[in-house]
Amino acid sequence: MTTSAARMAPTRRYFEKRAEAFDRLYTRQSLGTRLLRRGPRRGRDLAVSVVARHASPSVLDVGCGPGRVAEAVIEAGASTYAGIDFSPHMLRLARERLERFESVELLDGDFMELDLPQTFDVVLALGLFDYLDEPGQAAEWMRARCSATLVATFSRRDRIKTPIRRLHYELIHRCPIYFYTEADAEEMLSAAGFASVEFVSRGPRGFFVTASPSQ
Ligand SMILES: C[S@@+](CC[C@H](N)C(=O)[O-])C[C@H]1O[C@@H](n2cnc3c(N)ncnc32)[C@H](O)[C@@H]1O
Repeated sequence: MTTSAARMAPTRRYFEKRAEAFDRLYTRQSLGTRLLRRGPRRGRDLAVSVVARHASPSVLDVGCGPGRVAEAVIEAGASTYAGIDFSPHMLRLARERLERFESVELLDGDFMELDLPQTFDVVLALGLFDYLDEPGQAAEWMRARCSATLVATFSRRDRIKTPIRRLHYELIHRCPIYFYTEADAEEMLSAAGFASVEFVSRGPRGFFVTASPSQ
């Protein structure tokens, strides 16, 4: 049986090469970015609003990337922040960005293979499910570590962006990507032990959910 880290090697290579370009999506003002790459900024806004609704929550950010979401949720009141990513380049950007904060832990590795015994009030999975070949197992991993709220984003198939993404990720960079219907995501999260799955934002190319562990 191959390990998750071995199966995910092309995805890791992709983000290792594209870390700076991904980071710039948060600041670029071009029309193309604003129209086609709004997801990261909107995911960050949702994470901030969820963190602000809890009293000083602990936050786990799975696939934390360059730390843009981290700095926003810490400023919004997170008491502790743990980010996991398997791209050392992404983690380097995150480390530089988060130097000024205390109570930050950045973990290097494939989250599915990390032994993380503690639970967190808020678990973030922003822009992550699009790259996971075993999303049901990933959702179970998150459920085991979530004590209050999961925030997750999903891409759906659409006629304009999906062919562009397949060309960019799969044909050019050999990085597999995955799409979801709302029913898929709800069923998967329920099977993993989440209840009250709420679709907080629905767009033509994706949707954002929050969910809580079932009692
Ligand atoms: C699209 S980026 C999103 C980054 C961040 N969540 C954000 O919204 O700014 C996806 C991130 O997930 C990381 N990632 C993907 N699969 C992973 C895995 N199995 N374990 C750890 N990190 C992973 C990638 O390296 C990348 O940094």
